[in-house]
Amino acid sequence: MTPSPLPADAALRGHVITFCGNPFLMPPDAALVDEPDGLVIIKAGRITHVGPYDRTVAHLPPDLAVTDYRGCLISAGFVDTHVHYPQLPMIAAYGEQLLEWLERYTFPTERRFADEAYAATIARQFLSTLLRCGTTTAAVYCTVHPQSVDAFFSESTRLGTLMVAGKVLMDRNAPDYLRDTAQQGYDESLALIERWHGKNRQHYAVTPRFAPTSTPAQLEAAGSLLARDATLFMQTHLAENRAEVAWVAELFPDSRSYLDVYDRAGLVRPRSVMGHAIHIDEHDMRRCHATGCALAHCPTSNLFLGSGAFRLFDALAPARPVRTGLGTDVGAGTSLSHLQSMNEAYKIAQMTGHTLHPVQAFWLATAGGAHALHLDGQIGTVAPGMDADLCILDPAATPLQALRTQMCDSTADLMFTLMMLGDDRSIRATYVGGRLAHDRDRAGV
Ligand code: GUN
Ligand code: ZN
Repeated sequence: MTPSPLPADAALRGHVITFCGNPFLMPPDAALVDEPDGLVIIKAGRITHVGPYDRTVAHLPPDLAVTDYRGCLISAGFVDTHVHYPQLPMIAAYGEQLLEWLERYTFPTERRFADEAYAATIARQFLSTLLRCGTTTAAVYCTVHPQSVDAFFSESTRLGTLMVAGKVLMDRNAPDYLRDTAQQGYDESLALIERWHGKNRQHYAVTPRFAPTSTPAQLEAAGSLLARDATLFMQTHLAENRAEVAWVAELFPDSRSYLDVYDRAGLVRPRSVMGHAIHIDEHDMRRCHATGCALAHCPTSNLFLGSGAFRLFDALAPARPVRTGLGTDVGAGTSLSHLQSMNEAYKIAQMTGHTLHPVQAFWLATAGGAHALHLDGQIGTVAPGMDADLCILDPAATPLQALRTQMCDSTADLMFTLMMLGDDRSIRATYVGGRLAHDRDRAGV
């Protein structure tokens, strides 16, 4: 097996932004930790000190050089809570809504991942693009082929990234070439769990694609896998599109709701991540709150496929907040950049009568995503003890952004310009376990 890189030491100076609370549950300004001239000290891949440069420099080991990112923001790396790596080659597929889009574009593309060499090529391209976008952790769908999972985790291990991923389960309503059976899906998932789960920052997610492509027997089998180990993840799609919701009601007439189909099989629990959840009711929101199951808001995808408007402020209502993160959902999403996800999330909120504060948007993309995945003790904030997975954001990456930045009179406004105007060009650098994993201005890093 490929060895992981050794965790590194580093010291980074710049404008540190991170969170000490949930800005949907307290005033955004109170949730933001804002250190305009900050220093982050990293030892063996973990953050040991964060604070004002003047005071923190005393803790700097004498032989450790400081990398100067003044003029840039230092943030936790982004967390993408829902994305399909095999769909990278078919991003921007024209003209369809969900069910036709799956048939016409998605299934034929995923067929190619029977070939492990092809899977390895795309996994490499996917992970390097994620790092280029400042994303250091993602919950990732592979395909039905176990070799697509091996290819993905091998590359993530080589990079040292913390990833959550799993083999898609589909035993009906899919082409022959992409179908498994309930037993085969169980056996293959179990072998992959034993090979990868908990090793070298890799985590396994039991991954039934969505209710229409799994028989009740397969959903039960997924539930029994999860019952073996509380540290396993589960990911699936929920109530993304109205035609899909109607189909699920036909296929599972005894269930109260779409979420209830999963609940009956034991799939609604901590570390479960439901993609989309646009068309769900208050009863289901409460159930998600009570169980610790999370929702992945995927704005660029929901707009691209015309699926509907996720009720973000309802999901995070202080009376019963549901764990919620942001997902790019590539290939239905149109960008791997969470700056773009924040941009479209802002517009969806506007359309539904809410104003998404930039501190709330950045929280969703970092600490909120980590909390959704129950990984907030390890990633998602810039604080002592956390893994040093960081991204360095350049607010003046283009002439237009440099112009707009001159008008900024607050950190929140600076963050807002980044989320509305930024993309991969705004990511000056990305660190994984304290190691420089992407440098915009240096080829080959
Ligand atoms: N529902 C079932 N499969 C998929 C998928 O691959 N992408 C999206 N956006 N929705 C799905
Ligand atoms: Zn998806």
